[in-house]
Amino acid sequence: MNIIYHPSSQTFHLYNDFFSYIIGVLPDGGLGQYYYGRPIRDRKDQSHFFESSNRGMTVWPLEDRPDYSPETTQLEYPSLGRGDYREPAYEIVSQNGSSISDLKYTSHRIYDGKPPIKGLPHSYTECDDEAKTLEIDLKDKIKGTLLTLIYTIYRDYGVMTRSVKYKNTGQATLYLKRALSMSLDLPDHDYIWMQFSGAWGRERIPHEKRLENGITAIDSLRGHSSHHQNPFVILRRPETTETQGEAMGFSFVYSGNFLALAEVDNYDMTRILMGIHPQNFSWKLEGGDSFETPEVIMSFSSEGLNGLSHTLHVFLRERVARGPWRDRPRPILLNSWEALQMDFTEGSILRMAQKASKLGIELFVLDDGWFGQRTEASGLGDWFVDVSKLPEGLSGLSKKINSLGMDFGVWIEPEMVSPDSELYRSHPDFVLHEPARSMSLGRNQLVLDFSNPHVVDYIFGMLMRVFDGANISYIKWDMNRSISECFSSFWTADRQGEIYHRYILGVYEFYERLIKAYPDVLIESCASGGGRFDAGMLYYAPQAWCSDDTDACERIKIQYGTSYGYPLSSMGAHVSACPNGQVNRFTPLSTRANVAYFGAFGYEMDFNHLGDEELNEIKAQIKFMKENRELIQFGRFYRLISPKDDHLSSWMVVSPDRSRAIVGLYKILNTVNAGFYHIKLLGLDPQKDYLIEGTGEIYGGDELMCRGISSKSDASTNGVAKFLGIGQDLDRDFGSRIYVLREVR
Ligand code: GLA
Repeated sequence: MNIIYHPSSQTFHLYNDFFSYIIGVLPDGGLGQYYYGRPIRDRKDQSHFFESSNRGMTVWPLEDRPDYSPETTQLEYPSLGRGDYREPAYEIVSQNGSSISDLKYTSHRIYDGKPPIKGLPHSYTECDDEAKTLEIDLKDKIKGTLLTLIYTIYRDYGVMTRSVKYKNTGQATLYLKRALSMSLDLPDHDYIWMQFSGAWGRERIPHEKRLENGITAIDSLRGHSSHHQNPFVILRRPETTETQGEAMGFSFVYSGNFLALAEVDNYDMTRILMGIHPQNFSWKLEGGDSFETPEVIMSFSSEGLNGLSHTLHVFLRERVARGPWRDRPRPILLNSWEALQMDFTEGSILRMAQKASKLGIELFVLDDGWFGQRTEASGLGDWFVDVSKLPEGLSGLSKKINSLGMDFGVWIEPEMVSPDSELYRSHPDFVLHEPARSMSLGRNQLVLDFSNPHVVDYIFGMLMRVFDGANISYIKWDMNRSISECFSSFWTADRQGEIYHRYILGVYEFYERLIKAYPDVLIESCASGGGRFDAGMLYYAPQAWCSDDTDACERIKIQYGTSYGYPLSSMGAHVSACPNGQVNRFTPLSTRANVAYFGAFGYEMDFNHLGDEELNEIKAQIKFMKENRELIQFGRFYRLISPKDDHLSSWMVVSPDRSRAIVGLYKILNTVNAGFYHIKLLGLDPQKDYLIEGTGEIYGGDELMCRGISSKSDASTNGVAKFLGIGQDLDRDFGSRIYVLREVR
């Protein structure tokens, strides 16, 4: 890993074992992008990568260089108004109304380590020598702006992080109308764009399209990163597969409105942009003021999509997530929501908990309904215990749960308020709204104005009082509606464009305070399921509730899609009762667990409603997970077969020393009289032999990877699939099997 500056050619080369990234100063003093791809050797002069030409209708800023046109050049952080007609990376409006800007390189610094970004989530280092940072200063003298492009590369991870700092160095006020975190110009457009889209209950399903001339974009304008589009995209080469070829990922470390965009121009170059969505955004910069953008993690792999995911899994787990839970296997929890919703008493909670403790559950989570006069339409924001349900408060309940040998966790939704609540009646000014205009309801609730620091203080104080004396080990932080009427009376008219971003800064500030107050507590983020599942949230909460859809079959798709950009340790995944509450489907208890194992595992059901057979099965599931969660949550994950055809799906994890592996194989819809299929495993040691536990069968790692686990069904008779001769649990809709492989010597 190194960052080298060659003064003679004014080029910068950032490289590690995974990629090279080369930038150079252009003829007009701006910055050009020269190369991003597999590592290449450093040379003193790589300015021959610079390409530009005078084509019909192009313009040139330098009188004597008609061959240099911004429009035909790969630019590093493109401006507006000087002849580049593609989407710009930023826009600054000066007092005379001009958006024209022009950045010139002035200086740079290269140093060990990585600087923090104040008030925003960001990746970090544990010691300075594991990363190097380059800061490049660019100035627009006429506007009086200094932009610092910040790049960090890591020795051990195939990632580079990028962010930008703006400073108004003049006296006159400026308005930042667009301040994206990164721009990347690539020399061709031979890419497939992958996005992870959905809606409530069906988040992060992969969608692919070939980049063509014009703009491809995803975004969120909902005030949170959203169920609809995830702030993570991949560009892969058409020939790239799960196991080979080049792929690059772009993960936005941010939880609010975002834009991710690819523009293929008419000379077949591709520009990638990512950052805070410019719509509904503006930031006032008075003389001397600064603004820092959130960070983008750019990841690169020449080992296919599984390679890219692995890079991201390890990086997000080890250098974005923080705190004592970062490296710890996650507790197996029982959450009260799907079983009891808001209709419970201390008695019913304790009955659930007593049964759970006998089965081996480690953490009992009390979900929504414990505070205020809570109903679906009231009580949110009233953070005091409903003593008609819990006469001894959270502190009394937590003690009783603890005495059963389990930790206690609790649900909160601090950003919201019900109109029918004491909080709203006494502080109607606390919500985001434009006075005189009616407010839209979402889930019967309004959004508190977290751009106002007094509101953040007030709610934080309330929560601290109610938590006082309770032994809380886990907090589930929920957020259940998108923002509308985004207006804050706390801020002046010229700052209304800042509210969406200030809201998220308020959320981050609240999280930071919570972590400070309860450093050992495990926080799980949630937003009606996976409506704020992003790299930013992982900085505060190392796991997130994947989706409100807990149906095993749907969850295969959701968790499969999520795995492209996020580690298994971050995916809250629970076994729930049947028929499933979201899709009314019956799936075997074994399949529900076989899917949920591949995440932060738990249950959402009242075990008192189950018979002995199911209870014994659950006991065995919990035992299995306790024995294997370290491998599953921190091992190397591989996608094997995509569930997109609703037929068969498979994934696996392998321990770092390749001595153990666990494979999940899922039949979605069964077929009759099907041919044999072979599940080719990945990541094993070809030289080792592996025992498939429970079967006595031993196969070579090479056999398992090259020939695969095979179905030995007799296709000519009845199509019964007998996997390695064990069980017929795959011979049905929603059947599944787990294979545990162990090295034998
Ligand atoms: C959201 C969450 C659920 C549950 C409910 C409670 O929908 O995603 O898990 O906590 O809120 O109201």
